[in-house]
Amino acid sequence: MKKIAVFTSGGDSPGMNACIRAVVRTGIYRGLDVFGINRGYEGMIEGDIYQMHSHSVSNIIQRGGTMLKSARSMEFKTPEGRKTAYENLTALGIEGLVAIGGDGTFTGAKVFFEEYGIPTVGCPGTIDNDIYGTDYTIGFDTAVNTALEAIDKIRDTAAAHDRIFFVEVMGRDAGFIAIESGIGGGAEFVMVPETQTDLNTVVESLNRHREGIKSSSIIVVAEGDDLGNAGQIMAMVKEKIDNPSKEFKFTTLGHIQRGGAPTARDRVLGSRCGMGAVDGLLAGKTNCMSGVMNNELVYTPFADCIGKTKSINPDHLALIEILSI
Ligand code: F6P
Repeated sequence: MKKIAVFTSGGDSPGMNACIRAVVRTGIYRGLDVFGINRGYEGMIEGDIYQMHSHSVSNIIQRGGTMLKSARSMEFKTPEGRKTAYENLTALGIEGLVAIGGDGTFTGAKVFFEEYGIPTVGCPGTIDNDIYGTDYTIGFDTAVNTALEAIDKIRDTAAAHDRIFFVEVMGRDAGFIAIESGIGGGAEFVMVPETQTDLNTVVESLNRHREGIKSSSIIVVAEGDDLGNAGQIMAMVKEKIDNPSKEFKFTTLGHIQRGGAPTARDRVLGSRCGMGAVDGLLAGKTNCMSGVMNNELVYTPFADCIGKTKSINPDHLALIEILSI
């Protein structure tokens, strides 16, 4: 293998740049020509592909976002789109790919490999941490810390006004950000998509808190919770609570969780996975993801990354309940 290409796809995440840098520099160190593809599968179809050099990735390790830009491509879901992508890659002599993204990215890579056989190794880039085959995904730690910083600030004003605050964090299908920022931020309650939220339990616990010494409360809601968004859940709780004169507020943190300088953990993880992906390709691996489990670099088949669910730890939910008395 002499020429490889790297791209980022799906939702961006802090640490993707560190990962790109590691792919480019490891590839060059190992004697490869490394190409960058802009805007993921979209750029692959449009032929937006260019050769990268060691200096192409100077000064990006500390930046959020992705220097290669990202997109969610509908065209790559069609056989015609994938054919054009294959033709563009072979015209440049590209023999291997590193795909940085989440399960949508790996689903595309798996289909592409099955059709055209270009070896591909993935790196787990998403803030949601919902990928099987790695303890953490690149960007998760930064997103949690961003959410935590916001929760700390909300706590100050919630306490000053004796208010009940609902804070919505990202996580369309997964509650990892909610759980970690909830534990770290001392939340009274955390609502996640993986478990059915019982409104009565929330109301009872808030009533109990009111009878005790708590004058303010923080409830962290993952955006994919089955009861709705933070505003809707707040309205439902307000209707049922013993003391309706209590002041309620909600805040949606939104895309600030996707940006910002990556934490040390995300830079290290991105660098390790990126190097692992190139070394994996050179060792003949394909159709798998380079991740880190128990501090060891491991390769997990795309089929498992996509097909198996990374479960939340029920002990963490119990922890939140116990510590919120
Ligand atoms: O995949 C990460 C994520 O942040 C989800 O938690 C969220 O629902 C989604 O991306 C939103 O992404 P976009 O705004 O790009 O559609």
